Amino acid sequence: MPDFTLQPHHTVIVGMTGSGKTTFVNRLLLKDEVVACRFIYDDLNRMWPRLKIPVCHTPEQLAASVPTRWSAFCHTKMLFKFNGDPKRVFRWWLRWVWRVAHSGPGRKIVVLPEVWRWCNRDTVPMELALLAQAGRELGVELVCDTQKPELLNGSLVGSATELVCFRQIDRDALKATETMLSSSGNTFDPAQLRSLPAGSFVGFNRLSGASQAGRVF
Ligand SMILES: Nc1ncnc2c1ncn2[C@@H]1O[C@H](COP(=O)(O)OP(=O)(O)OP(=O)(O)O)[C@@H](O)[C@H]1O
Ligand SMILES: [Mg+2]
Repeated sequence: MPDFTLQPHHTVIVGMTGSGKTTFVNRLLLKDEVVACRFIYDDLNRMWPRLKIPVCHTPEQLAASVPTRWSAFCHTKMLFKFNGDPKRVFRWWLRWVWRVAHSGPGRKIVVLPEVWRWCNRDTVPMELALLAQAGRELGVELVCDTQKPELLNGSLVGSATELVCFRQIDRDALKATETMLSSSGNTFDPAQLRSLPAGSFVGFNRLSGASQAGRVF
């Protein structure tokens, strides 16, 4: 596993479809650690059923979820309030997380699956950039996974302390991963990432330069 002793940190998980990203995030969330609350933007309904936790659809349900330390949110019932625009619901939820993170101490793990849907190299919701760059002071730790590291915005790349790589075969994805790792002085072997079996990963600590292999299945 990557080095989680440096806290707070932001983690980016990259890998092709089916490689093990969501399984990794679920394991990370289930680790026996003291966490004030985990916030999961689960609009794809891929995490809460596997974690066996309730899902929130309304502001009231979200408020009630915080004391349970698990807050998974699916956007469908809020879409009508935002002209059916999923990006506006996403930004509303990030603002809500920001407010809650201000309301008390402790670690807040914010999970954004398939983050390529919300940003690209040139644009990122202001609320997401704020969480990435200023959230640390509030104990916010971002966990983003993506099949498309080439679309990650600089605010996410720049703030990522851990990069966890599952199997990748796409040339653009490998190139983007290489760029991210070389900028932090990590040694990277594209052939190794191309040949990883599903479920296996290499985690890179971008602060220490250390790397470690592991597997989730
Ligand atoms: N213990 C296991 N043994 C074998 N396969 C498993 C195991 N756990 C999960 N899987 C399967 O591995 C696949 C990939 O898992 P996961 O959902 O973590 O990948 P992913 O990288 O998040 O994929 P996607 O990008 O499509 O979301 C899933 O189809 C899942 O059913
Ligand atoms: Mg997934």
